[in-house]
Amino acid sequence: MITAKNSLLAAQVVQSPTIAKSVIHPRFAVVDRPGIHHGQAGTQVDPGDFRATLGCFPTGVAVITSLEGKMPVGMVVGSFSSISLDPPLVGFFAGVESVSYGEISRSSRFLVNVLGAEHDEACRQFFRDRDSRFQSPAWGSAENGLPKFSEAIAWINCTIVQETKIGDHVLVVGQVEDLARNEDKVSAPALVFHRGEFGASRFDDRNADGAR
Ligand SMILES: Cc1cc2nc3c(=O)[nH]c(=O)nc-3n(C[C@H](O)[C@H](O)[C@H](O)COP(=O)(O)O)c2cc1C
Repeated sequence: MITAKNSLLAAQVVQSPTIAKSVIHPRFAVVDRPGIHHGQAGTQVDPGDFRATLGCFPTGVAVITSLEGKMPVGMVVGSFSSISLDPPLVGFFAGVESVSYGEISRSSRFLVNVLGAEHDEACRQFFRDRDSRFQSPAWGSAENGLPKFSEAIAWINCTIVQETKIGDHVLVVGQVEDLARNEDKVSAPALVFHRGEFGASRFDDRNADGAR
């Protein structure tokens, strides 16, 4: 049986020709870094402190979906991020032990469903109930067949071009094939995860003339 762990062995060598050709500026390429500490030096940070401190940094919330054969699969992530505009790349960090990550990795593609603040309960339900994740009528299919949450704020359709194991997570990089905003929802507050709780992104008068 293929597990998330052994799918990683294959995953580490997956790299699209487009990305492999990217030029890294020599100034960055020659920097000699000490590398990641394991064992003693790496255990100096208390895991509870790590979680509580990093939890001060709010993140957006997305559901990454894919297909395992014909079966819809997916996982909630707070680590989704834009990476590069040219070429258009996005990514997320997946735990090496995550079953859902293994499924997504094997399919080599994923759809990012950006959640709105109103989806906190839907998100909890998705996170908890693996067997009934896709039962809500709001789940349908994108044109390429990947599970699509029709009420999401935006969707980003990707092909996996790079997977790099970093500590106990894998950085999964997707090349953006196409994307869309949900015109009915795009101005609505997004779902955020902050200090272990769900909340809502919000704009107020202070930035009415700001960066938007
Ligand atoms: C708000 C929130 C954010 C999460 N972010 C991540 C994440 O960035 N990466 C990750 O691997 N798991 C994340 N998880 C946990 C995954 O959704 C999932 O439960 C975990 O990967 C175990 O997956 P599995 O049940 O398929 O093994 C998050 C969960 C929640 C509720």
